[in-house]
Amino acid sequence: MTGSNGNTAVSDQPILPKPEGLEGVVAASTALSHVFGEEGKLVYRGYDIHELAGHATFEEVAYLLWNGRLPNRQELDALLQTLGAQRPLPSHVIDVIQALPDTAQPMDALRTGVSALGAIDSEHFDDVPDLNEAIALTAKFPGILAAFFRHRQGLDPVNPKPGHTTAQSYLHQLFGKEPDEKHWRPLEVYLTLLADHGMNASTFTSRVIASTGSDLCSAITGAIGALKGPLHGGAPSKVLDMLEAIGAADNVDPWLTNALDRGERLMGFGHRVYKAEDPRAEILRGMAAEASTPEFFALSRRTEERALAMLHERKPDRRLYTNVEFYSAAVLSAVGLPGDMFTPTFAVSRVTGWTSHVLEQVANNRLIRPQSEFVGATDKTFVAIERR
Ligand code: COA
Repeated sequence: MTGSNGNTAVSDQPILPKPEGLEGVVAASTALSHVFGEEGKLVYRGYDIHELAGHATFEEVAYLLWNGRLPNRQELDALLQTLGAQRPLPSHVIDVIQALPDTAQPMDALRTGVSALGAIDSEHFDDVPDLNEAIALTAKFPGILAAFFRHRQGLDPVNPKPGHTTAQSYLHQLFGKEPDEKHWRPLEVYLTLLADHGMNASTFTSRVIASTGSDLCSAITGAIGALKGPLHGGAPSKVLDMLEAIGAADNVDPWLTNALDRGERLMGFGHRVYKAEDPRAEILRGMAAEASTPEFFALSRRTEERALAMLHERKPDRRLYTNVEFYSAAVLSAVGLPGDMFTPTFAVSRVTGWTSHVLEQVANNRLIRPQSEFVGATDKTFVAIERR
């Protein structure tokens, strides 16, 4: 049988619905987190994100994701101690990071650092991912990024300080000084908000790799690659670029109109699952109001309002709202991070979700191996090039 594209249909292929981008397809069972898209609600292990953000520490959230329940005081102290002990990087990993050109993107440096860690510390990160490995890898993310951040400025890495939380340690290792509470507090809330988010692209990637029986560093290296894309985690620096390009309140309308007329997407708006406002955007908006300068917040707010109005006018049947990335830009800038460190900072948080998903996958594993709808030809005849 020949189809309209001239190709031969393959008779043993099941004809199944093929949602573009797997939209609506259930790819795994998870008890970790869920996005209630219609309601604009996010739940981690039974807790609404509003219960946790600003109340729980990042380490409590990490413990919750890994273990399925919140820690008591003793368990939290033990986790903080283990994270502290696991933060120093093997010297060969630092060598690999310092061999990168200073023009490399921080997400590429993180991906390379995690991959190098898997190769260099292969005795620790062996083929069967476990909770100790998850904690050790999470502990090392700030140090990998900070080592690269400093390397590209010609600076030596800073040794982590025992007793620092993840947010404090990250800022200390990046900037080489004791972090100010006005910086580590908003960063801590940001980290709790980004820790997990249902079956997003990078999480799915980590589960696919884990399902093959591969090791934790391989699964997380793949996830970092998926997170880097602007349709997933790569948007917040582009939000900053957009706000900087707009520059002033009277340029908001012309700038947005031009971008939409050119068919561009406005960064920080729209979501595959949320059909209401992303609850994380609401929390981050409140934090941005406190943490960023009044001028930057006013410009962000004006841009958000006009972008929403224009999107609703141009695409009335699409429910496009502010997503997490929009105010991440304001909060992370206020904390002192440059735009290209925004997505890597997202990863400092999300590694807890990725590793939890890997552990959940391996606890009840079945190889993830879907089908494809074959639309190619099947009946071509090979004609050899005359051998010389
Ligand atoms: N700006 C302008 N238009 C947008 C838009 C945006 N940010 N987000 C979606 N749309 C439009 C699309 O152009 C499309 O319109 P059309 O059907 O008339 O062609 C429609 O809304 C639906 O888009 P679709 O591509 O089906 O949505 P998706 O579920 O595949 O994409 C995102 C979701 C997040 C990739 C998308 O909203 C986007 O690109 N946002 C900007 C990047 C961003 O903020 N990423 C961070 C995500 S947390």
